[in-house]
Amino acid sequence: MTLDELSKQLTKIELQVATGLRELDQIDAVRSFESSVLGKQGSIGLLLKNIRDYPPEERGQVGQVINSAKAKAKAIIDARLNEIQREAVEKESQGASDVDPTLPGGVEPLGSLHPVTMVQLEIERIFERFGFTVETGPEMESEFHNFDALNIPADHPARDMQDTFWLNNGQVLRTHTSPVQHRAMKKFGAPLRIIAPGRCFRYETLDASHENTFHQVEGLVIDREISIPNLIAMSKALLQEVMQREVKLRVRPGFFPFVEPGLEIDMNCQICGGSGCATCKHSGWVEILPAGMVHPEVLRAGGIDPDQYSGFAFGLGLTRLAMMKYGIRDIRVLNNGDLRPIVCSQRLGGPILVNKAS
Ligand code: PHE
Repeated sequence: MTLDELSKQLTKIELQVATGLRELDQIDAVRSFESSVLGKQGSIGLLLKNIRDYPPEERGQVGQVINSAKAKAKAIIDARLNEIQREAVEKESQGASDVDPTLPGGVEPLGSLHPVTMVQLEIERIFERFGFTVETGPEMESEFHNFDALNIPADHPARDMQDTFWLNNGQVLRTHTSPVQHRAMKKFGAPLRIIAPGRCFRYETLDASHENTFHQVEGLVIDREISIPNLIAMSKALLQEVMQREVKLRVRPGFFPFVEPGLEIDMNCQICGGSGCATCKHSGWVEILPAGMVHPEVLRAGGIDPDQYSGFAFGLGLTRLAMMKYGIRDIRVLNNGDLRPIVCSQRLGGPILVNKAS
């Protein structure tokens, strides 16, 4: 091969290197391409090996031509290697390496209000329409407000009816929302209409229908001509509005020291429709609204003259009502942080349909 032919051959190889590299985007592939050009058996490598075939006086020049071609080829190959490495780093830093933008996105569940909160807000709205104000009281309550002001003196056996959490400071975790009755009478005097939703606590053994932490909505109406039919009519309207369907009520006598007479207003079980299930202990009824006419002693303790005013009070079982509305069969799921049963019952949207089979 003449010197002229040699340099033509080298130009051809350079061109091949440039075009061949464009197709390669893996480091390994570039490396083996490199050895097919520059390696001992490579296209340029072989030319170098054959230098000794040239007459000695030409060898210097031949060597120069080949070495400069070799350096050029090496530079192009290195540049391509750098490029591939840079691209890989860039991809990684954008997280593109393990993100496939064509895959459908994951759906994060949206947060929502707790079922008890939803029913509470609904009840507040209903009562606000009736002209009630919404009152609150402390969860850590004095013995006086939780018991004495409600006609439950220290030696009264009714104190045992409500298993009380006593605190080291002599106060209690309120066992019901009824202490707000006294607070409201002191605050507003008569006439008055309030509800007081809130958390209550009792020392209970937990099971599907007992929790040590639950919600009630206290109601208190005091005016000049208040009677039991007012209470029953209001109870029915309220429960139907919350359940969004016709409900049946059953009224039984009940005993609470702060009302006289005392009533238990039961609702037909909304889980089984009244045919009997585990939730209603196979009776078809659930105790939802203990109530009664406010005891004269309680009015008096609140600074209201029982000869001029009468009133009714109730202690709606808000937790139980929320369970009925959303078909939640086990009270423990409401506080235990496992969202699955709650989310599931909310998805069904509004009142759960009666499941006759259970
Ligand atoms: N406070 C009573 C309880 O929790 C319920 C109640 C409230 C009864 C108001 C009558 C009137 O057991």
